[in-house]
Amino acid sequence: MRISDPKIVARLAELHVELQPGAALAGLTSLGIGGTTDLLRIKNHEGIPDLLNLLDSNHIPHKFLGGGSNLLVGDGELPWVVLQLVCPEPDIVLEGNFAHVDAAADLGRTITFCAKNDLGGMEGLIGVPGTVGGALRMNAGAYGMQVGSYVREVKLYRAATRKIEILRGHQISFEYRHTSFAPDDMMLSVKLELPSKLFKDILQGIRICNEKRRSSQPLGQKSAGCIFKNPPGASAGRMIDDLGLKGLSVGDARVSDRHANFFVNAGRASARDMLALITEVRERVQKTYGVELENEVVVWNA
Ligand code: EPU
Repeated sequence: MRISDPKIVARLAELHVELQPGAALAGLTSLGIGGTTDLLRIKNHEGIPDLLNLLDSNHIPHKFLGGGSNLLVGDGELPWVVLQLVCPEPDIVLEGNFAHVDAAADLGRTITFCAKNDLGGMEGLIGVPGTVGGALRMNAGAYGMQVGSYVREVKLYRAATRKIEILRGHQISFEYRHTSFAPDDMMLSVKLELPSKLFKDILQGIRICNEKRRSSQPLGQKSAGCIFKNPPGASAGRMIDDLGLKGLSVGDARVSDRHANFFVNAGRASARDMLALITEVRERVQKTYGVELENEVVVWNA
């Protein structure tokens, strides 16, 4: 979708929004899949309510992009524009055991920055790609921890009130890969409370998690992490593996040989290929186990 009306373009500039016409979303997602549309890069949080009013009043549909690491975007010219926050400088401010972090901050950088200041707790998430905002919205987790445990406050644009608001931790529910945020709420920043821990001890935890991840996940390849959520009490990866589906492909979309719940783009996979592979695997699991796997990956299909 293209914004060409000069009045809208001028207003975007007033709102400190940088317009990148015809951005290729394949370059903004870890799967390396996705068509083109206009990208609106937001430099100032305070302008967001006016920006969304501008888009709505001109009937311009939109979606919010975080780090693009858990996302499968459709092919071709996309029927909505994409909004993304520009990461400010500094993006992390520490105050005792609290870390005030911008939603656009890189998750790995945040974990290591806090670690160097003797604040730990999140080492299990090292190696999870993406932004802090994305991790927060999905309640990212690994190796027995989840980001929600450390959240004390979230500043967000709330679609329901069309305002920027601050929610306290207890007002938000964090479940397995799910939160109570509405799909069109936009995470802006978060206040985390992290336990004091010596850098060398955190580093030890980080090394262990890195090693586990390296040995079990296809880290060097283009993927969106796990495709399906684990059904209660079971592992989607093991179920798919037990069906002998590692290596199953549609075009260049392929079930990883290393971890069967990771589907990789082994070349020039399209969204169509990846979606066909997801459907095929879901159907085979359903047939054998009678379990309907739910997507973990977020799909923006045109
Ligand atoms: N397994 C297999 N074959 C496979 C994959 C896994 O037999 O191809 C077995 C493993 O050997 C293990 C069990 O299944 O005994 C569980 O595997 P793993 O420890 O890799 O954990 P998982 O349940 O597959 C979850 C998260 C990952 C997270 C890891 C580590 C989900 C859907 N996945 O994977 O998160 O990194 O635990 O904590 O919750 C993600 O969210 O994108 C993600 C990758």
